[in-house]
Amino acid sequence: MSNSNQRPLNVGLVGGSSGFIAKAHQRAIFMDGTRRVTAGALSSNSEKAMASASEWPYPIVGYESFDAMLEGELEKSAGERIDYVLILTPNHAHFEPARKFIEAGIPVFCEKPLTLSLQESETLSAIVKEKEIPFCVAHTYLGHWTTRLARHVVQSGLLGDIRWVDVSYLQSWMAVRSRNPDFAKTAWRLDPAKSGPSNCGGDIGTHALMQLRYITGLEVKALSAHLESLVKIEGFEADQLDDHFTAYCQLDNGGRALVRATQIAIGHKNDLRIEVNGALGSLKWAQEESEKLVINLIDQPERIHWRGGIHANDGFFQNLPEELMDEPTTPWGHAEGFHDAFARLHRCFESDVRAYQSGTYNGTDGSKYATVDDGVTGLRFIEKAVESNRNGHAWVEL
Ligand SMILES: NC(=O)c1ccc[n+]([C@@H]2O[C@H](COP(=O)([O-])OP(=O)(O)OC[C@H]3O[C@@H](n4cnc5c(N)ncnc54)[C@H](O)[C@@H]3O)[C@@H](O)[C@H]2O)c1
Repeated sequence: MSNSNQRPLNVGLVGGSSGFIAKAHQRAIFMDGTRRVTAGALSSNSEKAMASASEWPYPIVGYESFDAMLEGELEKSAGERIDYVLILTPNHAHFEPARKFIEAGIPVFCEKPLTLSLQESETLSAIVKEKEIPFCVAHTYLGHWTTRLARHVVQSGLLGDIRWVDVSYLQSWMAVRSRNPDFAKTAWRLDPAKSGPSNCGGDIGTHALMQLRYITGLEVKALSAHLESLVKIEGFEADQLDDHFTAYCQLDNGGRALVRATQIAIGHKNDLRIEVNGALGSLKWAQEESEKLVINLIDQPERIHWRGGIHANDGFFQNLPEELMDEPTTPWGHAEGFHDAFARLHRCFESDVRAYQSGTYNGTDGSKYATVDDGVTGLRFIEKAVESNRNGHAWVEL
């Protein structure tokens, strides 16, 4: 972690002029005072990019394109130039900037899904390994303190062998927003050329998959999937991507999982939830109530554990990792949420970027944030789900 003798890290943005996600990242970047946004190529439209940069809440260097940003920043001395780049563009515009910045030796924090295709993701992964450079995929929900606690609970064996995982991400925006006149702004998500082989599976199914893999440490070995378009949009017809995604999965320990995502469930907002069932007990976590973790052990009353109320010596949780207990959090009752989760990812990434700059970076084990290989796994999952759907929902191995 950083200390007061260290200058704040400089972050450059690619994209971000229109999406809410840029504002969420901006707050998370600033949260510790050890990182700040200093540059941006904020739009694919060069005029808009410059105008948006000039409207940024504090002075940043605006660039007309990410190529111009790379060139301009490389001309600066270390310490002045950006220390890492954050890619916030639609999915089809992740690969090129990510590749170019990594090749130039600048660490990359990239929105999900990692790329448009598995092949692109594998290419990025190979370059990241060759360059031995930090790379993060923005799977936001790994940053919740309670997600990290859930990972410890499951992987410490408290629930016994995992038999069944039910993970779902339910939203309503396709049903709700498709009726609004500004829907065109969002419509890129339904277009395979901009979104990839799946809209709903790629956009939020990959979050659900990542939550499953991160908490349980298990991998999907085979799947049988359904990808459906339940809200029909005029002008898309045959090409319209899915808004409803269901994959029944075999896990590599012999267990089973259901990975579901939908964008048509009116009443659901960002309803990501997971239930992990083991031989000795179960655990439930939901992002809209992310201050708590619910644990049921056989023949014991249900336990609701609140972030902030968990102590290393409370006799229930065994061997709570020091680094988890040392994480900066607010006292319980002062709720943490989405921005805190993002900030935790940026904080961990900052630490790796500083190590990289001082020559002590040894790679990441995926315990702090999603890695480039997690991004590859997400794309493989999606491509195999599409294959299964195309072949009558047949079982497909990953
Ligand atoms: N982690 C999360 O929780 C989360 C949430 C929402 C969106 N996302 C991801 O963020 C990404 C962006 O989604 P969005 O909804 O904000 O999209 P958006 O369409 O609202 O915004 C994308 C921005 O990228 C800009 N852009 C496009 N091409 C560019 C280029 N070549 N150079 C510079 N800027 C360019 C656009 O001008 C726009 O400002 C997607 O990959 C999406 O999956 C992640």
